[in-house]
Amino acid sequence: MSGLDVSNGSYTAQFAHVALADFEIQNPERFSRYRQMCDLPLVRASSTHDFDFIVDLVDDRLALVDCRKPRIRPVIIDLDQPWRATGVDLLRRAIGRQSSSVIDATAGFGRDAIHLARLGLEVTAIERCQPIALLLDDAILCARDEAASRIRLLPDDSLRCLEHHHADVVYVDPMFDASRGLKSLPRKAMQVARELAGDDVDARDLAAIARRHFKRVVVKRPDKSPPLVDGVHHSHCGNTVRYDVYLLDGPVENET
Ligand SMILES: C[S@@+](CC[C@H](N)C(=O)[O-])C[C@H]1O[C@@H](n2cnc3c(N)ncnc32)[C@H](O)[C@@H]1O
Repeated sequence: MSGLDVSNGSYTAQFAHVALADFEIQNPERFSRYRQMCDLPLVRASSTHDFDFIVDLVDDRLALVDCRKPRIRPVIIDLDQPWRATGVDLLRRAIGRQSSSVIDATAGFGRDAIHLARLGLEVTAIERCQPIALLLDDAILCARDEAASRIRLLPDDSLRCLEHHHADVVYVDPMFDASRGLKSLPRKAMQVARELAGDDVDARDLAAIARRHFKRVVVKRPDKSPPLVDGVHHSHCGNTVRYDVYLLDGPVENET
């Protein structure tokens, strides 16, 4: 299935065949919440073989079950895990110490979103891939870390909705070639994210829209890759990734 639906110009952002399990009897409230959040087909336990994955309630957590490899542990998002804290926090520097709100325009598994929330920022997390958005919603609800309450999830496409929101800074972390990206996630979660969301081939458009509407934009890039769009003001470089900062105008604040 292609992620690009050219007929109506929208990006459905779903490559694998995914369904929502019908767990209404076990948990009507949560079922109704997730039914409203997505338009995934509904599936009963007997017909899961038609799908690559189902989103199901497993041990009271919303989980992605791989129907092709039922023995593999279902994937959940756990926001209580520590962030990859190695050395200097380049993301924090790139976001800017004076920023108090951020739009994470490519929320994914919410690792960066929870990190930014732990730093005290109000985070609007936008994720367009529906199964990932459902798992992230569940993760926010179930997190013990009070920082998760500073994350507001929008299951939407940033290309479409970004300009209608406000924040001090927009953060863009698109998926790139299979050998890179999402290095912070466990291998299985990384594979699943790629299978569900594909490569974000329209990431340049997203960066361009962000630049047009926001004063500060941060784009995460693999270390040796060229900038996603022209006009980088300055960069924060690590061993494997780089954060390119775009500023609309104004003086550069103290970045350290
Ligand atoms: C590399 S992952 C982001 C990982 C994330 N920073 C984290 O810490 O888990 C990219 C994610 O951005 C999402 N994405 C890409 N373009 C998007 C858009 N235009 N709107 C919303 N989500 C988008 C993809 O579906 C994918 O889940």
